[in-house]
Amino acid sequence: MSKKPDDLSSIPRHIAIIMDGNGRWAKERGLPRTEGHRIGAESVRAITEGCKELGVEFLTLYAFSSENWKRPKREVQALMKLLELYLRRETQELMDKNIRLQAIGRLHDLPQHTQEELHRAIETTANNTSMTLILALSYGGREEIIDGVKSLIDSVEKGHLDKAMIDTEVFSKHLYTRYYPDPDLLIRTSGEMRLSNFLLWQLSYTEFYVTQKLWPDFRKEELRDAIKAYAQRHRRFGAV
Ligand code: IPE
Ligand code: IPE
Ligand code: MG
Repeated sequence: MSKKPDDLSSIPRHIAIIMDGNGRWAKERGLPRTEGHRIGAESVRAITEGCKELGVEFLTLYAFSSENWKRPKREVQALMKLLELYLRRETQELMDKNIRLQAIGRLHDLPQHTQEELHRAIETTANNTSMTLILALSYGGREEIIDGVKSLIDSVEKGHLDKAMIDTEVFSKHLYTRYYPDPDLLIRTSGEMRLSNFLLWQLSYTEFYVTQKLWPDFRKEELRDAIKAYAQRHRRFGAV
């Protein structure tokens, strides 16, 4: 039976989002880029709430890439401050909504104080059960694969793992994402048709949705549009 265009019945279990376009949003308004990041944080709140309401189980947000360290120092500092502010402000909100916070990436590269705020929020929300919100921070897909390879070699050298046993399933257990299912839907805002080093391994069979909307303008209504588009897709996973 063909699905209706307003179908919200197939809700992705895991949504991943490349939150792009904060700078362009600010530029359009003659504002500093950091203002775009600030309003972008409000989209984070709205989309987290929207996903929870729709019954999404996992939401992964690309907040800061390995490559974003190359941005001007002032912008990087502003992003870290904003992240700390978000963590301090939103922890209670996450508790009220029963949402568990997690993070993936080379977290030890973050400033000490940011790491402290992050770990505090992760610990506080650890037993929440309605949804898992995963922030990708200092995250790169290639870096994750390298870290996974190192972890595999470590297991083999320690005698915990036989080289002959290594397959895709085993390797997945050495990635940052070992506790989560692969994303069903990837959303990228601001129109760019690229992955920018996001979840290279995990997106193998994920459905892509690219919208022209800039991240600060991406709210619950736009989320519903993305899920409606997803509901129209026929996932074949290589079969017929
Ligand atoms: C996304 O917006 C936020 C981060 C990458 C941290 P950008 O800052 O990349 O915004 P544009 O792409 O320059 O518009
Ligand atoms: C991807 O956006 C990274 C995040 C959203 C955190 P970028 O703006 O950094 O990606 P490019 O530079 O357009 O590929
Ligand atoms: Mg960008």
